[in-house]
Amino acid sequence: MTENRSQWGTKVGFILAAAGSAIGLGNIWRFPYTAGENGGAAFVLVYLICVLLIGIPVLIAELTLGRYTQRNPVGAIKTISPTGLWKILGYLGVISGIMILSYYSVVAGWTIGYIFKTAFHQTSDFGTFIANPINEVFYFVIFLTLTMLVVISGVKGGIEKWSKILMPLLFLILLGLIFYSLTLPGAKAGIKFYLQPDFSKITGRTILAGLGQAFFSLSLGMGAMITYGSYLSRTTNLVSSATLVALSDTLIAVMAGLVIFPALFAVGMEPTQGAGLVFNVLPKIFEQMPAGTIVGIFFFILLAIAALTSSISLLEVGVAWAVDELKFTRKNATLLLTGITFFLGIPSALSQGASKFFTEISLFDRIGFLDIADFIFGSFALTFGGMLLSIFIGWKWGANKAIEEIKFGLFKESTTLLNIWNFLIRFVCPVIIFFVLLNIFKIF
Ligand code: TRP
Repeated sequence: MTENRSQWGTKVGFILAAAGSAIGLGNIWRFPYTAGENGGAAFVLVYLICVLLIGIPVLIAELTLGRYTQRNPVGAIKTISPTGLWKILGYLGVISGIMILSYYSVVAGWTIGYIFKTAFHQTSDFGTFIANPINEVFYFVIFLTLTMLVVISGVKGGIEKWSKILMPLLFLILLGLIFYSLTLPGAKAGIKFYLQPDFSKITGRTILAGLGQAFFSLSLGMGAMITYGSYLSRTTNLVSSATLVALSDTLIAVMAGLVIFPALFAVGMEPTQGAGLVFNVLPKIFEQMPAGTIVGIFFFILLAIAALTSSISLLEVGVAWAVDELKFTRKNATLLLTGITFFLGIPSALSQGASKFFTEISLFDRIGFLDIADFIFGSFALTFGGMLLSIFIGWKWGANKAIEEIKFGLFKESTTLLNIWNFLIRFVCPVIIFFVLLNIFKIF
């Protein structure tokens, strides 16, 4: 629509950027510890079903709305529904993006810290590392600054090029680690925990966690994929792109589990230990494996970069909104939103032992500011946003109109497939999410 709106360099560039947004700490940090807390294999199964039935349809829906309107989430919703309350959903996306970014950058900071910790063989444990307020704020600020610099330079810049080399490297290093992890004595118990579902462990809580993780990992529910779709032209095949993005994201998460769980059981740690899981377990295997220091340094660098290709999409939503709707320059929008994120992230940074108040605060069964923020914004708001988005796209805009847009760029039109999407987005997604959400409020 607008002449000067930037677009992705190439189709591959877009898929890499979208996969880059999806693949991040969600796969390697959040997925394993959430699986560990929610019964292992039973959770993995629920998660896979959520990706298939809800994640992929919502991903297609977001990309479609973005491409059709060529706008940020707030603008996209206003284009379809100029009056009324729907646009609040767009603002919810902007707010969730900033809130997720605030604690995501704290965790990404741990990754940067671990590059140096591994390199200099600092043996202090994870708990001590994150309880240090100087470490916490320092690495948080470094990561947030990197995110800001990339977003200022626009969508096409270096990240598209870098992802092309670095994402395959992350894949290879994970593959190598899987082989190593599987050879450790005691690995079998880990595999069993991770892959042999105990169906009695599936509860409302598991389903909420699985659904929340699907939204988080695929970057859904707050308009990041609307925004990324808005930089697309009509020659891109949305269905195959979405499927490819979801498959690669899921593959990386499943692989991360195959590294962590065998190693976890081999070193005799608890799967239910929460957010520290990966940072506690991985250094242990880097310590004992051949060339472990190099592998470890390399691994944490790649993880930090994977986090960076995700964090830019969290910030990009707010920036696109401020640029499109408030007529900010890209630079000013980025500076302002990064500044706000910095203040919002401080409580999370101090919530790992540095400040007693932020560490011990508890709400919804979660303890500590970071964990609470992750629950409210990284799980609940995304899932809720995803429900409203599927209602908005399936009913308010109309699945049939959306399908007209999806058809541009398809290799060949499969009516059956489009009908399945129509059914999933209008009925399955809203209804399942609705019941899962009721469960949070203990209505069952
Ligand atoms: N998906 C990313 C990860 O797995 C995190 C992320 C990026 C995200 N953009 C998002 C999560 C938008 C939710 C919404 O690490």
